[in-house]
Amino acid sequence: MKKQTLPTIFAADQSPHWTSQHDGIWSRRGADLDAVPTLSILTTLWDQPRWLEAYHLYDDQGSELFEEICELPEYYLTRTENSILEAQAKNIIAAAAVECIVELGAGYSKKTIHLLTEQLRQRGHCLFAPIDVSAAGLIASQAAVRRDFPQIEFHGIHARYDAGFAAVDKNLPTLFVFLGSTIGNFNQTDFPRFFRALAEAMGPNDYLLLGADRVKDKNILQPAYNDSRGITAAFILNVFQNINRLLGGNFAREKMRYHSWFNPEWQQIEMYAVAKENQTIRFPSAKAEFIWQRDERILVEISRKFEANRLQEQLSFIGLQPVAHYSDPQDWFSVLLLRKQAHR
Ligand code: TRP
Repeated sequence: MKKQTLPTIFAADQSPHWTSQHDGIWSRRGADLDAVPTLSILTTLWDQPRWLEAYHLYDDQGSELFEEICELPEYYLTRTENSILEAQAKNIIAAAAVECIVELGAGYSKKTIHLLTEQLRQRGHCLFAPIDVSAAGLIASQAAVRRDFPQIEFHGIHARYDAGFAAVDKNLPTLFVFLGSTIGNFNQTDFPRFFRALAEAMGPNDYLLLGADRVKDKNILQPAYNDSRGITAAFILNVFQNINRLLGGNFAREKMRYHSWFNPEWQQIEMYAVAKENQTIRFPSAKAEFIWQRDERILVEISRKFEANRLQEQLSFIGLQPVAHYSDPQDWFSVLLLRKQAHR
C-alpha cells in the first residue's frame, strides 16, 4: 500500500490517527466500527423500556429501505428540504464564505449537489469531505463526484461523526452540513452532547447548515412514519434482522408488529416493535436471553420535531449563533444556517 500524506482538510496533529486503504478515503486507525454494536444492543435491550440505538437500522437492507422511504408520497421531508436547498443554495453559499464542505452522512445526494454546484460557481473551487460509517457509501459518493464534478477535491472520512468532525482543520473555512432532520433522531442526552462537540470542533470561520423538521399537524406527521405501503414498518422491523445477524438472535418478524405515533408532549414520532405473543429472545453467543412479553414495546427510533425559533435559541446556548433561516412556503421544514459564536 502506498503511503499517502494526510490532505489539508485534516488538522496538523491528526496524521497519526488516520490511514487510507482506498485512495481518497480516510479511516480512523484502530477504530473498530464493528466491535461496539453488539454491546450497545445488549445494553439497551435490557433497559426499561427496552430500546435500540438508531444506527443499527442502517445495514445494507435498511439503507435500501430508507432510500425507498425518501420517495414515498407521505414522506414529505426529503422533497421539502430539497426544494429549500434548490431555491436557497445560492444565498447559503454567498452567506458562508468557505472553501470546504463537510457533510455528516455519506453525501452526494440530490440535496448536496445544489450546494456543491453553487460553491464551484461562486468560488471556482471546492473541497468536499463527507463523514460516514459506511465505507461503501463513501466510495460510491467519491465515484459519483469524480464523474460529475472532476474539479472537486474529494476526501471521504470513514468514521463516526464526532471522530470525523473533530479531525477537520479549524483554520480551513468549512461549511458543515447536517441534513434530513437527522438531529431529530437524537435523544435529549445525545442532542446537546453532539452540538457541543461540533461547536467545539468548529473554527472561527466555519458554518453549520442544519435541516430540521417542524412540529405540525399530526395528520401530516403520522403518515410520514407509517406509510400505506408498509415500507416504514419494514425499515423499522428490519433492525431485528440486523441484530439476529450480528448476535445470532432469534427475533421473528411474524411475531411482532410495527406501531408508531406522534407524542405531543415530547413532540416526537415514536416508532416501536410490539410483541404479538410472549416469546423468549435468545442470544446464544452472549449466553443471554429475555422474555419479550405480549404487547411489550421496544422503542426502535424517535424522530423529534422542532419549533424553529426555539431550536435556534437553544443552539445559541451551545455556542452556535443563527445566521439565516430558510423554509418552504408551508413552513413544514427548516434549513438553519449557523455560525460559531465568538464568545458569549
Ligand atoms: N431523520 C429522518 C427522520 O426522522 C430519517 C429517519 C430516521 C427515518 N429514522 C427513520 C424516517 C425512521 C422514517 C423512519 O425522518
